[in-house]
Amino acid sequence: MTTNIKAYRAAILHSIADPAVVGVEKSYEYFEDGVLVIENGQVAQVGHAADLLPTLKSVEIKHYANALITPGFIDTHIHYPQTGMIASYGEQLLDWLNTYTFPTEQQFADKAHAADVAGIFLKELLRNGTTTALVFGTVHKQSVDAFFEAAEALNLRMIAGKVLMDRNAPDYLTDTPESGYADSKELIERWHGKGRLHYAVTPRFAPTSTPEQLTLAGKLLGEYPDLYMHTHLSENLKEIEWVKALFPERKGYLDVYDHYQLIGARSVFAHGVHLCDDECKRLAETGSAVAFCPTSNLFLGSGLFDLNKLEQHGVRVGLGTDVGAGTSFSQLQSLNEAYKVMQLQGKKLDPFKSLYLATLGSAHALYLDDKIGNFESGKDADFVVLDYNATPLMSYRMQQAKTLDEKLFALTMLGDDRAIKETFAAGQSVHRRD
Ligand code: GUN
Ligand code: ZN
Repeated sequence: MTTNIKAYRAAILHSIADPAVVGVEKSYEYFEDGVLVIENGQVAQVGHAADLLPTLKSVEIKHYANALITPGFIDTHIHYPQTGMIASYGEQLLDWLNTYTFPTEQQFADKAHAADVAGIFLKELLRNGTTTALVFGTVHKQSVDAFFEAAEALNLRMIAGKVLMDRNAPDYLTDTPESGYADSKELIERWHGKGRLHYAVTPRFAPTSTPEQLTLAGKLLGEYPDLYMHTHLSENLKEIEWVKALFPERKGYLDVYDHYQLIGARSVFAHGVHLCDDECKRLAETGSAVAFCPTSNLFLGSGLFDLNKLEQHGVRVGLGTDVGAGTSFSQLQSLNEAYKVMQLQGKKLDPFKSLYLATLGSAHALYLDDKIGNFESGKDADFVVLDYNATPLMSYRMQQAKTLDEKLFALTMLGDDRAIKETFAAGQSVHRRD
C-alpha cells in the first residue's frame, strides 16, 4: 500500500486528559503555529511547525490562517429521525413525544424517506463539525439500514440502533419482544464492526418496553462483544413517576435497567437530570455513561443537569445534542447552553472542560478514547478547522481576546455551524463551508 501523507498547519488544540482529574493546565496541548500530520487516515504526528516542517519537505501542507484545528466533535445522544421536527412548540417530554415525535417517526417505515433524512442528518452533523455520534433510529429496521448505508459511504465512525418499543406507543410504531430481538440481531450481524460502524441495542426508555422486551435486550448484549446500549433515563419528573408506577417492584428508574442487565461499559443513558446519589454510584461502579444534553433539557423544561455531582461520583459523562428535543446540531451551542445550566446552579464551566466534554470526554464516555477524541498518533484523523472570523462579531470579539482561554470561551459562546470552515473524517474532507 502506498502511504498517503498530508499535513495541516494552523493553531492546534486538543485535550489530553480530564481537567477535573489533572487540573486545567495539564488537560490540553496547544500549538500556536502547529502542524497536524495525517498518514493513511490516521494521526501520525502533531507538533510545532518549527519542529515538524523541516521533516515534511516533500509533503503537501495546507495552511489555514486565523483558524484553530481541534478534534472532531462527538455527540453522545441524538435522534436522526427527528431532524425534521426540531423546534416543535410548547410541550414537555411525554406530550412532546405523543404530539410530535411518534407521528414523525412513523414515516421511517419507508426506506426511501429514511435514506433522504439520513443524508440530510449526516450533512448537518458534518456542517457542525461532529464526526461521531450515538444515534437513535426508529422502530423500523430499515431506518437503521438507511442510516448505516449513508454513514458507511462517508467512512464515518458512527453508532446506531433500532428502537425497541412494544408498549405505550401507537400501534404503528411498536414491535414485539421477539421481532425486536430478531430485527436487532439481523442489524448487528450486518453492521456491527463493519468499517467504523458500531451497533447499539436501543430500548427507547423503560415505559415503552415490556419486561419481556427488556429481558431480550439484555440477552442480546450478552451475545455479542462490544455492543452499545442506548436509552433514556431520569429526564423528566412525570416520566420518573410513570416508571415507578409501571415497575413498582424496582428501587427506582435506573434499577429497572440494572435488573434487566442493561447497564455497564458501553451503556449510555441520555439525560440523567434527576438522579439520586445511589444511582450515580451505581452508574460509576458499572462504568456506564450519561449524556449531558443541555439544549434539550432546557427546551423541554426537563431540569438542570448536575455535572459536578456526576463527576464527583466518577460517572463517565459525554455531551449530547438530543436533536429533535435539542435545538441545535452544534456542539458549540451545546456548550453555550451547558455553561448557562452551570451558572443557574452557581457553578462554572471552564472552557477547557468544555473542549474536553465535546471531544475526548465524550470519546471516553463511549469507550472510544483509544480511537478518537484527540490527536494521539494512531487515532482516526477526524478533525475540524474552526474559523475565528466566522462572523463580524466573532472577529471583533477575538481581536479583544488576550488569552487562549478567552478565545476558546468566546468560540463556544458565539460559535455554531458558521464557525466550521472544514470537517475531516478519516483524513478526508467531508464538509467545506466555502
Ligand atoms: N424519552 C423517550 N423518547 C425520547 C425522545 O425521543 N427524546 C427525548 N428527549 N426523550 C425521550
Ligand atoms: Zn433523546
